[in-house]
Amino acid sequence: MIRGTVPPTMPRDLHDHYFREAKREGYRSRAAYKLKEIDDRKKVLRRNANVLDAGAAPGSWLQVAWERVRPGGVVVGIDLQAITPFPPDAAIHLIEGDLAEVPDDALLAPVRSPGGAETRFDVILSDMAPATSGDQTIDHHQSVRLARLVIERAPGLLTGGGAVIIKVFEGEAYPELLGEMRTCFKQVKGFKPKASRSISREMYVIGTGFDPSAAAHLTGDTPPPPPRRPKPGPGWSNG
Ligand SMILES: C[S@@+](CC[C@H](N)C(=O)[O-])C[C@H]1O[C@@H](n2cnc3c(N)ncnc32)[C@H](O)[C@@H]1O
Repeated sequence: MIRGTVPPTMPRDLHDHYFREAKREGYRSRAAYKLKEIDDRKKVLRRNANVLDAGAAPGSWLQVAWERVRPGGVVVGIDLQAITPFPPDAAIHLIEGDLAEVPDDALLAPVRSPGGAETRFDVILSDMAPATSGDQTIDHHQSVRLARLVIERAPGLLTGGGAVIIKVFEGEAYPELLGEMRTCFKQVKGFKPKASRSISREMYVIGTGFDPSAAAHLTGDTPPPPPRRPKPGPGWSNG
C-alpha cells in the first residue's frame, strides 16, 4: 500500500462497505476493489509488467496496479483531470490529457529502456467514464466510444499477447463491441464485479491474447476479419 496519498475529498455513499474499506486501507477510491476482484479472477497484472491506466483519476487503480507489478513494472496513468502525485519510490507516471489526443510516444516514454528500445504495455486498463447526461442511451454510446478509443489505440501501445480491462456501460451496442474485440483478442469476456453497484450498468470487458496482426483493420489499413466465436466460461457473462 502506498500510504499518505489519500486526497482530502472522497466519493459518495459514506455508508458503503467498499468506501469504508478503501478509507481503511488507504486507497484513493472504492474502485480499487473492482480491479482487485477482476484481476484475482483473470490474473492479467503480473509482476514486472508495464501497465497503462486510462481514466486513472483519482488513482486507486494505479495503486492496485503498482502493488501487483512492482518492483520491476511501470504504471502510466492518464486522465483529463490532474492526479495527486505518488511517492517517488513507486514507478507510477502521470499524464494529464485526453487519451484521444496524447500521442503513443508520450504514453510509452516512461516504459522505454534507457537505450530507447521499443517497449509496449503488457496491459491497458480503462475505467474511463463519460460525464453522465442522465440519459442511459446517450451515456451508453459515449462509454462505448471511450471503449473503442482504447481498442483503436491498442496496435500502437499494446504488446502482442497483451491484455485489456475496459469499463463500458451496457446497452444495445455492447454485443457489437465484444464482437469487434474478438477480431483481435484471443479471449473476450464481460464481468460485473461485486464492488460495482448493482444499480450501475457498468461492465468490465477483459480481452486477453492481443493479436497485433489481426488488429491492422483498427488503424484503417485492412478490412475487419469475421468475428471469432465466443467460448463461454463459468461465472462470466458474454453479453
Ligand atoms: C471512474 S473515474 C476513474 C477512477 C479510477 N479508476 C480510480 O480507480 O481512481 C473515470 C475517469 O475517466 C476520465 N476520463 C474520461 N474520458 C477520458 C479521456 N478521453 N481521456 C482520459 N481520461 C478520461 C475522467 O476524467 C474520470 O476521472
